[in-house]
Formats: sequence, structure tokens, C-alpha cells
Amino acid sequence: MVSAQVKEQVKNQTLELKEKYGITPGLAVVIVGDDPASRVYVNNKKKACEAVGFKSEEYALDKNTTQQELLSLVKELNEKPDINGILVQLPLPNHLDDKAVIEAISPKKDVDAFHAVNVGKIMLGEYDFLPCTPAGVMEMLHYYNISVSGKNCVVIGRSNIVGKPMAMLLLHENGTVTICHSRTQNLAEICSRADILVAAVGKPKFVTADMVKEGAVVIDVGMDRDENGKLCGDVDFENVKDKCSYITPVPGGVGPMTIATLMKNTLKAAKLQNNID
Ligand code: GUN
Repeated sequence: MVSAQVKEQVKNQTLELKEKYGITPGLAVVIVGDDPASRVYVNNKKKACEAVGFKSEEYALDKNTTQQELLSLVKELNEKPDINGILVQLPLPNHLDDKAVIEAISPKKDVDAFHAVNVGKIMLGEYDFLPCTPAGVMEMLHYYNISVSGKNCVVIGRSNIVGKPMAMLLLHENGTVTICHSRTQNLAEICSRADILVAAVGKPKFVTADMVKEGAVVIDVGMDRDENGKLCGDVDFENVKDKCSYITPVPGGVGPMTIATLMKNTLKAAKLQNNID
């Protein structure tokens, strides 16, 4: 599995960092409220930290936490020398302003690459961190020797977390990129021309077999629940799988790659903050 390989590399480099410099990368994970999906993600992130030898600190805040309280915690973590990465799990409860919280995180500790400074750097192609899910998808494509150059790439979804940066990373590798969204006309037809189709819509089994070209590469970023409450993706996997050359399952496809990239980013943050390359 690609994610296991990435985590193994991070683990080895972490050991080296400890032995040579006495540095242990530290990640702070902040969760506000009791959203069950967020709780699962945060637990998985903490487990991955343990597996690669990082220190992780969880800050589980009550759902009624105020904006001011959350901002003061972020400020405190920005100044904590043993914390190299800060991750505030999204979505936040409605009364909190996630944009302001993201902007309060020091760009040097922004291992999600959500801060405007890091987003801007990605647009320019000169970045320290890449957003975890899109970078995890690219890593998978590289691992399977799937070239993006000149290909028709279609991304369904335009979120700041996945859709927009995903399109940018595919563009950096010379893909011809189309972003589809809720107002797109002829969405099925556009998708059916894709050589590489990335689904990041958040709707269970949204991508059906008629929307997929024979031999396409299909990447499913969805984490949805089907009519029986069972975890599934944005792609109707059973009916699409025989049509494509590659397809990622849910669970077990993109999710583990997101976490593996978070580990890579946290290690990089620790090195940058200690002037080690
Ligand atoms: N919520 C869903 N995906 C993510 C992610 O990659 N990072 C954070 N912080 N929150 C998320």
C-alpha cells in the first residue's frame, strides 16, 4: 500500500531527526464539539502520529467554545516550540468562523496548507506544504506511474480543501483540467470524457457508470453514507469498477493517503522550524 510506504519513510526520517538532532516532531490536533466523523478522523491522525514516532497533543474543546477561546488556543500553539504542526479539524460548529481560525495559524505550522499564504504559494508553484488530500492523490498517481501530462482531468467539486487545490496540482503536472460543480451544465458528458476523474462532491454514489469513460482512472475522495448508513464514496464503485483502469475504494483509498501526507507535512514543518533540510 502506498500510504504504508510513505509512513515508513516518515518513520525512518523521524528516527534520524531524533538521533542526529534530538528533535521529535509534534502535531497539535484541535477538535471542537462532538461530530462523530471528525472524531474518527482525529483518532486516525493521532494513531498515525504514534506509528511514525511523533508527539501528538489533542485539544478537544466543548461545542460551545467561543471564537476568542479558540483563537487564544491557536495563538498559544503558535508559540509552543515543541509543536511543529497545528491542525484544526473542520468543519467547526456554525457559530465559529473557520476562516479567521485558519488565518490565525502560523503559516509555518499550517500542515493542512489552508492558510492564505500557503494557498498563494501553491498557486505560484513554490510551496512548503501541499494540502493533504490532493497531495495524497498525486502521490498515488505517481506510485502507479499514471502520467497526468496532456490528459483530460475532471475534478467534481470546488472546495478549498480538495477541489480547487486538486485542480491546481493536476495543472502543475500539465493536465488539461476542468472543474465541475453544482451549476455545471452537461456534467455527466464532461465527466465521460475524463481520462482522470476525481470525485470530491460529498454525495453518495454520485458518479455512475455512464459518466465514466472506458479505461479511465477514477479517484474517489468522498466519505459518505449510503441509504443503509454504510460508509461509501462519491462513486458507485460496484458498477463503475469494471469500466476503469484504476479506481480507489472507500474506505481504504484516498483517506489513508491524506493522513500519510499530514505526517510528511509535519515532519517537514519540524525540519523547517529547526533549519534542517
Ligand atoms: N476536514 C475534512 N478534511 C480535513 C482536512 O484535511 N483537514 C482538516 N483540518 N479538516 C478536515
